[in-house]
Amino acid sequence: MNIIAFAASTSKASINKQLVAHTLTHFSESETTLLDLNNYEVPLFSVDLEKEIGHPEAAARFIADLSPADLIIVSMAEHNGNYTAAFKNLFDWCSRIEPKIFKDKPLFLMSTSTGGYGGKNALGAAETRFPRHGAEILETFSLPSFGTNFNAETGITDESLRNELMSKVEAVKLKVN
Ligand SMILES: Cc1cc2nc3c(=O)[nH]c(=O)nc-3n(C[C@H](O)[C@H](O)[C@H](O)COP(=O)(O)O)c2cc1C
Repeated sequence: MNIIAFAASTSKASINKQLVAHTLTHFSESETTLLDLNNYEVPLFSVDLEKEIGHPEAAARFIADLSPADLIIVSMAEHNGNYTAAFKNLFDWCSRIEPKIFKDKPLFLMSTSTGGYGGKNALGAAETRFPRHGAEILETFSLPSFGTNFNAETGITDESLRNELMSKVEAVKLKVN
């Protein structure tokens, strides 16, 4: 299985990127690629700019880089109750090139935040919206209070959250294979 993953954040120390990287270790039998949104820099979207410049190469490249995936794993960072502006901006450009940017592929949707709600607002927004862009959402997982519940060396420290992630990883594997 070919897994392409990304965190919907441009933070260099993104906790969502850390969660995705950790989750990929549970798919050791698969080929995995973790994309970095910083490699897809696009200007701030407006219909006027679109008329002027067309579509940025980086947005088309992001869609192309997702397309070999048998499974996409995304972890949503949350800013003020929603997607980060950087992700939303890239997503807006992509949707103008190819509305079905996820190309009917299965997707494991996650989120984490420093707060106790674990980025579930951004996760919920993506869970509602991504299917309209061709994502088949297989499972969702949210990790609350990242600083308390995650250790860089050992992963998820809370037993019940660790078990929840493991059971969802197994469910995803069963559904994709
Ligand atoms: C502008 C801003 C708004 C934020 N809003 C929220 C929020 O609404 N809910 C939340 O749980 N965390 C919020 N946070 C904290 C983020 O969860 C935290 O910065 C986290 O590290 C973001 O994920 P990332 O590291 O993957 O980018 C906010 C942080 C910033 C900088």
